[in-house]
Amino acid sequence: MDLENIRKNIYHSYNEEYLKKILIDFSNQTLDTNNFNIENRNINKVLNSFFEDLIYKAKSKNGKYSPKEIIDDDNLLEEALTYINEHKNFYQQKSNEANLRDFFFSSSMVGKVTNFNPVIARKIYEKYLPYENATIFDYSCGFGSRMLGALTSKYNYHYIGVDPYEELYKRLLFFSKWIKDTLNNKAIAEIFNTGSEQYISQLKEKVDLSFSSPPYFNYETYTSCNTQSYIKYNTYNSWLENYVKKTLENIYKYTKENGLHLVNLEDTKRIKLLNDWLDIATKVGFTLEEIETLSTRKRYSNKNSNKLLVMRKS
Ligand SMILES: C[S@@+](CC[C@H](N)C(=O)[O-])C[C@H]1O[C@@H](n2cnc3c(N)ncnc32)[C@H](O)[C@@H]1O
Repeated sequence: MDLENIRKNIYHSYNEEYLKKILIDFSNQTLDTNNFNIENRNINKVLNSFFEDLIYKAKSKNGKYSPKEIIDDDNLLEEALTYINEHKNFYQQKSNEANLRDFFFSSSMVGKVTNFNPVIARKIYEKYLPYENATIFDYSCGFGSRMLGALTSKYNYHYIGVDPYEELYKRLLFFSKWIKDTLNNKAIAEIFNTGSEQYISQLKEKVDLSFSSPPYFNYETYTSCNTQSYIKYNTYNSWLENYVKKTLENIYKYTKENGLHLVNLEDTKRIKLLNDWLDIATKVGFTLEEIETLSTRKRYSNKNSNKLLVMRKS
């Protein structure tokens, strides 16, 4: 099989006009905030075309290799393609590349990281902040999905995000400019290349709602750079103390009186982060208002559901 060709075509590539149309359509779409159904699937093409290479470099503990490690290694790539070939009843996509992408999602050989859904992100913002110009703080930007949700809303949010990963930070800047140039709306994006445990004094009492899907200790690895929370604080307890607690203390200070703190979490086999996050947030001063369940695409092996904790500074 022609491995070089597969390597070239594995990354989605779309015509820019087509991507702009998807973005504009999504921005004009009215979303039903009474449920978290994913009412637009096309918008993921936009995220893929800006972030797929970085997503493929990252690795989750769900599998042995990152997608990029498989793509780059002749033996691993052959092994994956042989497996796909031997399981044709399961892998029924039109091309080798498309089957391989399915394989990245379903095989225990691969640990592909998840990315929060941009439709759900926008629904969350529009449900809890149904008014113009509110300020949102994303304490862990990741691969752009929450920023995309915020900047495409009719409410023209002011989105502020942080992420310590430098290459990703630059990509986020590029992406936010592309969204702004395409939509030409009044939304604002501001991104800081730092960890959320660092205090940013200019954000004091500026935020109406904070929301993210933070790293779950070392469950997913994004880059080997030592600014990553689980590398800086390498036991679960020191990570809770130095990353989670500091982050929540900062968020509390950034939040306006009566403002909201939201977090998307999922327990893993080893880590029961939900209770720990709630416990620390409560000690910092937030009050729990509700816990919602989010529907996300799951591997068959994963039985936990994603929870959205909603807390208030009162
Ligand atoms: C958004 S989180 C988790 C992604 C998750 N799987 C999801 O569903 O979206 C991933 C990001 O956390 C970032 N990160 C790592 N350490 C951080 C820190 N100290 N503060 C803020 N973000 C951090 C990584 O650079 C990465 O981009």
